[in-house]
Amino acid sequence: MSVINVKGTHDIIGEESNAFAYIENLLKQICDLFAYSEVRPPVIEHSELFIRGVGEGSDIVRKEMYTFLDKGERSITLRPEFTAGIMRLIVQNKLLATNELPYKVYYCGPVFRYERPQLGRYRQFNQFGVEAVGNNSPEIDVETITLAYTILSSLNLEGVTISINTLGDDESRNAYKEALKAYFAKYLDKMCPDCHSRYELNPLRILDCKVPEDQEIVKGAPKMKDYLSDAAKERFNRVLALLDDLDIPYQVDDTLVRGLDYYSETVFEFHYVSKTGNDYGAIGAGGHYDKLVKELGGPDAAGVGFSFGVERLYSVLKDDNLLPEDINNPVEIYIMPLGMNAKAMALSVASELRLNAYRTDICYEDVKLGNMFKRAERKGAKFAIIIGDDEVNKQEVVIKNLTSTEQKSCPLDKLVETISKEMGEDK
Ligand code: HAM
Repeated sequence: MSVINVKGTHDIIGEESNAFAYIENLLKQICDLFAYSEVRPPVIEHSELFIRGVGEGSDIVRKEMYTFLDKGERSITLRPEFTAGIMRLIVQNKLLATNELPYKVYYCGPVFRYERPQLGRYRQFNQFGVEAVGNNSPEIDVETITLAYTILSSLNLEGVTISINTLGDDESRNAYKEALKAYFAKYLDKMCPDCHSRYELNPLRILDCKVPEDQEIVKGAPKMKDYLSDAAKERFNRVLALLDDLDIPYQVDDTLVRGLDYYSETVFEFHYVSKTGNDYGAIGAGGHYDKLVKELGGPDAAGVGFSFGVERLYSVLKDDNLLPEDINNPVEIYIMPLGMNAKAMALSVASELRLNAYRTDICYEDVKLGNMFKRAERKGAKFAIIIGDDEVNKQEVVIKNLTSTEQKSCPLDKLVETISKEMGEDK
C-alpha cells in the first residue's frame, strides 16, 4: 500500500505554490513599508507556552494541539498559532529593552491544529501575521488594522468585511463574565458538553459556540457593550473615530469574542465570501492583548497583531480570478537538443542564458522534434533553441521565435545579444 498525506494536510504544488509566493512576497513588501521586520520562531515550543499563552479555556489548547513527548520526556507542541511564540521570542531575547517601541515584527509559516477538516479548514495551514509590542495606545491598534486593510486592498480584495469589537479592560470583562455566568446558569442543562467546560473556564467562549440550539440561547445573552467601563468605552470610540478619519470601513459586531484567551480591548476579524459563494471562514483576525508578555515572564507591555490564513487568502483570490496572470513564471526559452553531443552543448547554452536572467529549460528526453515543440508550447516558451550535430560542429544554434515562427542560425558567441534583440529589450 502506498503512503498518502496525513488527513487535514495538503500539498502545495505548481500554480498554487507560485500563488503562495506571490501572496507572501506582497505581504512582506507591505509590512516593510509599515516598518515591520521579519522574525522566524521555531515550529516547536514547550507545550506550557501555549497553555499559558493561548489559555486553558480555549478550544485550541483543550482539543486541537499536536503535543508529544520528545526523547527527553519534554512535552512539546507544534505551534497552533504564532502570537505566543513571538512573545516568548521577544521576552527571551529582551527585545523590548533593546529596541524602540513598539517593537514591530511580521512572520509567516505553517501552524498546526487538530480540527475537523472541511472547506478552508486544515490541520496544517500557513499564517502570515504581525505583532506590534510595547505600546498600549488606540493609535497602534489602528495602524495594525490599517496595515491589514492595505494588504487586502493590494490583493484587490474589495468588499472585505472588517468586524470589530471591544472586550474592554479587566474591570469590564470581569463584570461581563459574571453577567454571562448568571444568564447561562439558567440554560446550562440544555447546552452542549463543551459549553459546560466553557462556563467554568471562560464563559465568553460560549458566545462562539456553533451548536444551533446553543446559538439560540446565546442570542438572549447580555451584551459586552453594556458592561464596558468608561475608560474602555473611550478607548474603543477613539479606535473607531481614527478608522473613520482614515476611511477604513468596519462593522461593529458586539458578538465577536475571538477564540484565544489573551485578548482585551480591540478585537477584529476579516471576512470575504467569494463571488462563487464559497465561504472559507475568516480570512484573518487579530486584536489587542495586554497580559501576554507579562504572563510569559516579560515586562508589563501590551501588544496588538493579526494573522491571515494564507490558504484562505489563496482560495478567495483564485475563486474570484484576482491572481495576477504572470505568477506562473513561464519558461522563456526551451532548448531542444538532438543527440548526445547536442545535449552537452545544451547544458552550457542553458547556463549562459540563465546567467543572463532568461528562464530556460532543456528537453532531456529523446522525443521527436514535433513533440519537443508541443512541450515548448505547453511551457509557454517564447523561443526554442534547436541544436543538432551540424550546430555542434559549427558552434552555433538555431533560434526559433515561437510566436512569429521565424527561425535563424546564430553563432554561440552572439547568442545572448541576439536573444536580447529578439525579445525587444535592453538586457
Ligand atoms: P486565529 O483566528 O486563530 O488567530 O487564526 C487566524 C487566521 O488563521 C484565521 O482567520 C484563518 O484565516 C486562519 N485559520 C485558522 N484556523 C485555520 C485552519 N484550521 N485552516 C486554515 N486556516 C485557518 C490567531 O491565530 C491569532 N494568533 C491572531 C493574532 C495575531 N492575534 C493577535 N496577533
